[in-house]
Amino acid sequence: MSYLMFIFSTIITVVLAVDTSNVIQIITDKQTANPDIVMRNNTYNASIEYYRSSLPTFCHCKGITTIMCSCRANTKNDQIPLANILRNMDKKNTATIRFENFKFETLLNGSFNGFSRLTSLIFRNCSIKNIEVNAFKSISIYHPYNAKLRIEINPIRHIEPGTFAAFKSWKQLSLNQNRNLGTKGIQTVMNDLQNKTVHSLEIKTCGIFLEELTNSFFEPLRYSGIGRLNMLGNAIGTVKSDAFEPLKESLTDLTLWNFMYVEKETFQIFRELRRLSIGGFIPSRSSYDLNIHLQNITALKSLTMNMKGVDVLKMQISVLPNLCDFHLISGSAVFDPHRYQLITLLDNVKSLKELDLSGNLLFEYTDEQLCQLFEDRSNFTFLSLRSNYFSHLPQCMFKGMYDLKTLLLNKNRLTNIQKDLFKDLHSLNKLDLSRNALTFIDLSNLEIMSQLQLRGLSIYGNNFECNCKLKGLRNWLMEKMTIKTKKFIAENCSMPSYKHIEYVHNFTMTWLECNTIPFTLGTTVSGGLIIFLIVVTLVLLRHFWKDIEYRRMIFLARKREQDENMHDPLIEHDAFVSYHSEKQLWVERDLCQELENGEDIKFKLMFDDRIIPGGSLFTSMGQAIHNSRKIIFVVSRGWVKDAMNQFEVDMALVKLLDDYRDMIIVLLMEHIPKAEMPDKVKMIIKHNNCLRWSNKEKKQAKFWRDLKLELGKHHFEAQGQNHDELI
Ligand SMILES: *[C@@H]1O[C@H](CO)[C@@H](O)[C@H](O)[C@H]1NC(C)=O
Ligand SMILES: *[C@@H]1O[C@H](CO)[C@@H](O)[C@H](O)[C@H]1NC(C)=O
Ligand SMILES: *[C@@H]1O[C@H](CO)[C@@H](O)[C@H](O)[C@H]1NC(C)=O
Ligand SMILES: *[C@@H]1O[C@H](CO)[C@@H](O)[C@H](O)[C@H]1NC(C)=O
Ligand SMILES: *[C@@H]1O[C@H](CO)[C@@H](O)[C@H](O)[C@H]1NC(C)=O
Repeated sequence: MSYLMFIFSTIITVVLAVDTSNVIQIITDKQTANPDIVMRNNTYNASIEYYRSSLPTFCHCKGITTIMCSCRANTKNDQIPLANILRNMDKKNTATIRFENFKFETLLNGSFNGFSRLTSLIFRNCSIKNIEVNAFKSISIYHPYNAKLRIEINPIRHIEPGTFAAFKSWKQLSLNQNRNLGTKGIQTVMNDLQNKTVHSLEIKTCGIFLEELTNSFFEPLRYSGIGRLNMLGNAIGTVKSDAFEPLKESLTDLTLWNFMYVEKETFQIFRELRRLSIGGFIPSRSSYDLNIHLQNITALKSLTMNMKGVDVLKMQISVLPNLCDFHLISGSAVFDPHRYQLITLLDNVKSLKELDLSGNLLFEYTDEQLCQLFEDRSNFTFLSLRSNYFSHLPQCMFKGMYDLKTLLLNKNRLTNIQKDLFKDLHSLNKLDLSRNALTFIDLSNLEIMSQLQLRGLSIYGNNFECNCKLKGLRNWLMEKMTIKTKKFIAENCSMPSYKHIEYVHNFTMTWLECNTIPFTLGTTVSGGLIIFLIVVTLVLLRHFWKDIEYRRMIFLARKREQDENMHDPLIEHDAFVSYHSEKQLWVERDLCQELENGEDIKFKLMFDDRIIPGGSLFTSMGQAIHNSRKIIFVVSRGWVKDAMNQFEVDMALVKLLDDYRDMIIVLLMEHIPKAEMPDKVKMIIKHNNCLRWSNKEKKQAKFWRDLKLELGKHHFEAQGQNHDELI
């Protein structure tokens, strides 16, 4: 709440400062009235004291020989007649009087009789309806030259011819916002000004309605040498090509707003025009495009073109060789057709220092297009890009603008001012980033701006994220805060939500908040590393597990060899091998070689060829199987088919029941589709250890290792355990 009040009061202060700068100055001067001067000028002392003490409280005057007074009605009691106010003023020395918010209604004949130094009169919002013809006459008698009269925001209906005729020359005549004056009233005034010198004429919003503005309108001012003319806020249909012909030699500064069309030659006749401001286009339904010809106004230094309200606008802007500042604003989509002209202008006219492109939807351009417009414009001192919906700005955008003093980026949608975006803006002293969606400003951007003070920076109306990253900005602001600036509007934090009540310039951060990210990062990384190592270890273990087991088995086997007592007398063979004759060679050569004559471990095998003849084959084979710890089936196509092996299979099953240990080892020697296998074989394969033979040597090594592991399983282990128990 207090924050809002602060903004509000600041805005009010700014508005007042702009509109009533005199008032403020007068107030402060009175407060610090210099007593020395009063003492020295004893002659004036009495009169000064007199008028000051009797002045109404709503009037403030300053100065001694040239007095400036400002009166402003604030309450109903302040509404007293003009004569009663003037009665108490120093007639001899008052040069300027300003009235505001009174209800004078009529300015009477001879109101200012006796004010022999009065040259400047201002009536602002004083409900003036009538001005008697001789109201200002007495002033003009004393001071026929360089009058300054501003009668603004009054409901004047009628002006008697001759009211403004008494002065020979005018510094300024302003009739702004007297809406009831109308074309007729203004023409009456201009007739009074005939053959008088008028430096500046302002007829803003005077209710002038003209279908066509022709040379007859300004004809009375032909010899007036008018320099400045402001006629904003009236309504004009077509500005004819000769409209300003009477003023063409003298006019240096023209503000012409609120018209529909302007003829081709209208602006081209000017010789001396330095400043031109056009805008407030009245939309029309005709198919006639608004075409503004600016060629030949070669003296033009300042051009303001407010394109709001216009659908199609044609103009030649690339031919203004002396342009210094250019405001091409509020164009929205109408801007785009002029982009290349603008680039040409910027490329050619090095005198151009100030550019305002507010309200032109520039966000629609790609980074390259923006760079083409802005990059390396080293002559710029002022750049305004307000209200362009920018959400980001490319790095190239402000490159080379070493002399830029003012940069206005307010009312966009910027979220982030990235590192080094402003890295060339060493001279910047005014930067407006207010009313965006900024969460972050990289400090590198502000650090290089040695000229930038707090009063030159606006950051209010953003979404700052008050985290550790923003500490740089905070510290910068805090440092600048030591010099108090009323103009700076403090900005609250937006995120995180619990920091809403804190300010961007002094929010607080704990150590953990500042180090959360490195902390979590550290934890995450080390955690991840540990998990990774575990996984790697597991993978390696899994991969080498069998090798380890194999080593262990060899170790146990060696032990067992030393301890012959542990030998089981019933078991004679390690394995009985059942095979088909087609694999005989493999069994005798490979299998026996590997298992019986292996280097590290030796097994005893039994197979039909080794059965000592005597007795029935079946009985001795049965005996052999019975005396073997394991049975190896060498499964080949022939083996599957061979009925003979049926017996061995049956025996194996019987032994399996006896022993119920995983004692069958199946060696799949070749690929046999399941459909071709008898059910019993399928069952054996399903329930027992299967090792697949491969023709590849590497895989064979594994095959042998696994086979030996299977053969040694439980055997050495059991022996080993028994052995341990014995000890
Ligand atoms: C004009 O003066 C009246 C008081 O006479 C005041 O109420 C009103 O706000 C003023 N208007 C402006 C625009 O200053
Ligand atoms: C003001 O003075 C003019 C010229 O002297 C005169 O014609 C007019 O009647 C006077 N107005 C009033 C209200 O006295
Ligand atoms: C203004 O001057 C012109 C030419 O010098 C002259 O013809 C005209 O009568 C004068 N008008 C007035 C009102 O003095
Ligand atoms: C404007 O300049 C062009 C040549 O650049 C010239 O032909 C034309 O007559 C000039 N117009 C005026 C009104 O001076
Ligand atoms: C931060 O600044 C604000 C406004 O300038 C002030 O009111 C407040 O006390 C400051 N807070 C701290 C913690 O310094």
